[in-house]
Amino acid sequence: MRAHIVTLPGDGVGPEVTAAAVAVLDAVAAHYDHHFHFEEHLIGGCAIDATGEPLPPASLDACKAADAVLLGAVGGPKWSDPNAPVRPEQGLLALRAALGVYANLRPLQVHPALAELSPLKNDKLKNVDVLFVRELTGGAYFGAKTRTIDTAIDECKYTVAEVERVTRRAFQLARERRKHVTSVDKANVLETSRLWRTTVQRVAQEFPDVKLEHQLVDSMAMLLLTQPGKYDVVVTENLFGDILTDEAAALAGSLGLLPSASLGEAKGGLYEPIHGSAPDIAGQGVANPVAAILSTAMLLRHSLGLEEEASTVEAAVADVLERGPHTRDIGGSAGTKEVLDAVLAAIDEHACNAAAFLR
Ligand code: NAD
Ligand code: IPM
Ligand code: MN
Repeated sequence: MRAHIVTLPGDGVGPEVTAAAVAVLDAVAAHYDHHFHFEEHLIGGCAIDATGEPLPPASLDACKAADAVLLGAVGGPKWSDPNAPVRPEQGLLALRAALGVYANLRPLQVHPALAELSPLKNDKLKNVDVLFVRELTGGAYFGAKTRTIDTAIDECKYTVAEVERVTRRAFQLARERRKHVTSVDKANVLETSRLWRTTVQRVAQEFPDVKLEHQLVDSMAMLLLTQPGKYDVVVTENLFGDILTDEAAALAGSLGLLPSASLGEAKGGLYEPIHGSAPDIAGQGVANPVAAILSTAMLLRHSLGLEEEASTVEAAVADVLERGPHTRDIGGSAGTKEVLDAVLAAIDEHACNAAAFLR
């Protein structure tokens, strides 16, 4: 198959992990006889430096035309002055909105070899397999923002249509899994959450085979640590989903492990690790590339429909997590390149075994 993929390496460790992800896609293309064409564009702080804008029109146009977009990370101390007129993160938000990717899938699995890195006791981490579905284009992130000398307002708004579409996506995904949806809100306080809850309840009636449960976000933050094995699909609004998934990353062992896929109705999709630009380790060649590499597996599966290729990448990553090498964030001393090379070698093994099996 032919696919046109736009890469947006961005800032900090973004270019380091994106390069690893592209190398993995190149290896997949070589093994399975696909043709992936990559086109790199600016986003974030580097785009502000080069053009004055965090999402230049050329980047946005390319993303809209692509079969999929692979993003590294944006932001960093250089652009973090709270009084700056423009910020790298605005570019990412504008991109998500323009692509209409309202459903952000963030899977959490705990690899047995890394369980000891988690702050939780090992027995709590058995069978942890959660799919967070974070609403990505609404809520406080996108409401009107106003600021006077002594007052600031971030409007938090949700419409029924916005809640319906992400809820449907979550239930559809749950049908392919363990058929259990947990909807997280703050319906005891927030009006948006009450609209969220009634809408989720109504949509759930379309899926009688899927069990629905509601959880308030504050207790969910606790339950994620005390009973992580209990959850299947967790659907929630934009800000709660952002916070809960960084918490979830601590269960897996590092932020450097969790991938994401952002999907809408149109073709294409946006794929990015859930971590940021990691300014504290940027430029050292030590960033964990696993989250970015696993994001390519999601890209292969969700945008290109290449399930076997996606599984090969995931199996290769699982091998490397099992036997090493590991980057520093997960207790090793390897650099990004060593981990990438090990993943590429494991992809060779898996793809060759699959080819031998077919012969
Ligand atoms: P961060 O995710 O960049 O880093 C948090 C911690 O996790 C740091 O100690 C970092 O070293 C570590 N870490 C993150 N990714 C890692 C990796 N791949 N390998 C090893 N360790 C890793 O969060 P932050 O420091 O709060 O934010 C830094 C900047 O990134 C901010 O400007 C923020 O807005 C931005 N950010 C961007 C995205 C994105 O582009 N999608 C996501 C989150 C944060
Ligand atoms: C993420 C990030 C972004 C978010 C920021 C950088 C806008 O934290 O992708 O999780 O809050 O969505
Ligand atoms: Mn985040």
